[in-house]
Amino acid sequence: MDTTGTFWMPPGNSTIASEVDGLFYFILYASIIIFTIVIGLTTYFSIKYRRRADAVAHKTDGLDHNLKLEIFWTAVPLILVMIVFVWGFKTYMKISVIPKDAYEIKVTGQKWFWSFDYPEGGNSVNEIVVPVNKPIKLLMDSKDVIHSFFVPEFRVKMDVLPNRYSITWFEATKVGDYTLYCAEFCGKGHSEMIGKVRVVTEEEFEKWSEDLAFSGEGMTLEDFGAKLYVSKACITCHKIDGSNSTGPPWNNLFGKEEKLSDGTSIIVDENYIRESILNPMKKITAGYQPVMPTFQGILKDKQIDALIAYIKSLQEDKSFIKDESLQEDESLKNE
Ligand code: CUA
Repeated sequence: MDTTGTFWMPPGNSTIASEVDGLFYFILYASIIIFTIVIGLTTYFSIKYRRRADAVAHKTDGLDHNLKLEIFWTAVPLILVMIVFVWGFKTYMKISVIPKDAYEIKVTGQKWFWSFDYPEGGNSVNEIVVPVNKPIKLLMDSKDVIHSFFVPEFRVKMDVLPNRYSITWFEATKVGDYTLYCAEFCGKGHSEMIGKVRVVTEEEFEKWSEDLAFSGEGMTLEDFGAKLYVSKACITCHKIDGSNSTGPPWNNLFGKEEKLSDGTSIIVDENYIRESILNPMKKITAGYQPVMPTFQGILKDKQIDALIAYIKSLQEDKSFIKDESLQEDESLKNE
């Protein structure tokens, strides 16, 4: 199969792509040919046997039936649909049956990002890294609504459901970056629920697996937090230029007095940020929807520390830090 793509299909870079495409083109061309014959004959007969002024003189005799013609128009479509059935069934089985030696990755969909857990223990968000030429099994579920894991180049698309696992697999045949889409409308951030599939060589994959366990050594907490802000997809909903997104912007957030949706207010401090990451539904900032997912189990303590350090670093006026004790008191008063 070519890997450049066509008008109809993106490049096919997995082991099943050629079969899916072959069947697709068979159905497409068969449909075009049948359409042309049917419409062509209809047009031709409409003109040839159109009503004329002297219609009475040319009146057709009553037609009975034509056995040869009837066998023909029964047998040909039957053969065509049987080809589609057998071909489709074989391809479907190949897509459904997971190879024994497949490498298993746990996929979690939630509003509005993807997270991936690897057998070695690492976790990545919105970026799944897999070795080339190796079958990858995906064990998937959702924390909220239905999402759908869709990588067009691999011809793989599978719904991701809450309260139930769905399973699919693919084997990438070419190193490169591919876009992962959510193909099920899942709310406001649906169009932003885009991830990346990075297909790498076996050696690169091993190196990456080791890095995955990286806990920020040799980095300041602040820099580690900046890295997590992107890699854990906080960036999807929280901007740092003061603009509103799905969630409140992070710059000049620390130390700020926030009005909550229940009418009370709170001073944003370390504990409030930590609580918002782990239990985001508890205190919602007024004017925002309660849509943030929990990062319980996704972020480790050290990573939360790093994100707090990063949020603090986005503060233009750092004088608040001196009055921390004072602000703590105030936040207690407000509770
Ligand atoms: Cu998730 Cu659309």
